[in-house]
Amino acid sequence: MSQRVLKVGILGAGRIGRVHAETLAFRLPGVKLLAISDVNTQAARQVAERCGIPIVADSSAQLLAQPDMDAVLICSPTDTHASLIEQAANSGKHIFCEKPIAFNLEQIDRALDAVHNAGVKLQIGFNRRFDANFARVRQAVTTGEIGDPMRLHIVSRDPAPPPLSYIRVSGGIFMDMTIHDFDMARYLIGDEVEEIYVSGAVMVDPEIKTVGDLDTAVILLRFRNGVIGSIDNSRRAPYGYDQRVEILGSAGKIETSNRYPTNAVISSATSVYKDLPFNFFMDRYAESYIEEMRSFVDAVRENRPTLVSGVDGRMPAVMALAARRSHDERRPVRLEEIDSAMSLAEALKHR
Ligand SMILES: NC(=O)c1ccc[n+]([C@@H]2O[C@H](COP(=O)([O-])OP(=O)(O)OC[C@H]3O[C@@H](n4cnc5c(N)ncnc54)[C@H](O)[C@@H]3O)[C@@H](O)[C@H]2O)c1
Repeated sequence: MSQRVLKVGILGAGRIGRVHAETLAFRLPGVKLLAISDVNTQAARQVAERCGIPIVADSSAQLLAQPDMDAVLICSPTDTHASLIEQAANSGKHIFCEKPIAFNLEQIDRALDAVHNAGVKLQIGFNRRFDANFARVRQAVTTGEIGDPMRLHIVSRDPAPPPLSYIRVSGGIFMDMTIHDFDMARYLIGDEVEEIYVSGAVMVDPEIKTVGDLDTAVILLRFRNGVIGSIDNSRRAPYGYDQRVEILGSAGKIETSNRYPTNAVISSATSVYKDLPFNFFMDRYAESYIEEMRSFVDAVRENRPTLVSGVDGRMPAVMALAARRSHDERRPVRLEEIDSAMSLAEALKHR
């Protein structure tokens, strides 16, 4: 497989589908985009034209029926992911699926079972693991550079809330937005969270309350190894996309700052200032999207495990469900309370 060109199909030609299509078409050698499909045929045609994809399939079934296709990227809305994973696995295709896998554990477990039974690879789209800053933080933990981690603090604030139409179907702030931070917390500390406590509110836009969601939250995480984590989320940061991490360890600390389009510093008679950080996730995390695709393609071509497994997709969903319950019931929630379908220990066996 390693010398052969990897043939890939894409389901979903929206925002993230386009990003991945362009990465595979223009940035990664050894890959051929064979087919694309979207319920909005026009969207699929546009991406096909731009990226030189020869087949625009009428349906997911038609796309997955391409006999010489090795792998598929699932970039459609979240409520379609689990069933498309099942279909793709049953067709023997390796799978890259955007986050989250699904909103509930029953669907997630069915999809992961299908992947397991088919023996295909699955990578979940937690792209932030492939960001150079966050990878460096993980390295400081694994090498012992800062000693034993004691405190993790993640700041994750969007520049502005998405439209209500998006929020309504997003699964809520914890499932849609914090899920990246839940993944980052597990990845950076290298251990599982056992208890979550949330203090959340609607402070940015009262309309968000009308669809049952929040826009502001502080989330406390207690890890099995004793580390205490905190996540600071807001749907609005007027100064740009605010994405920072700090870990305090027994021998020191590591922190990352925001990324900026330029590093210019302007000094005047009254102040010293610089331009605002990147304002959009596509810009802030541009390189990470390329690196996650490279990692998926290499895993398939070289027959290695993917770096973001099905369990890595499942655990943040468990954490999101626990966070919502903690908010609703105003109390700390242990993950065992949520994870009735499969115990934590059992889930970890499938890693
Ligand atoms: N990892 C990240 O940073 C990141 C960023 C953005 C979106 N996402 C995830 O990617 C997914 C898509 O988000 P988006 O922002 O690209 O949405 P989008 O609405 O821009 O695009 C989704 C596309 O899928 C199409 N579609 C709907 N049902 C389909 C089906 N059954 N088969 C094929 N296509 C179908 C829609 O017509 C649309 O063109 C979501 O699950 C989201 O959570 C992840």
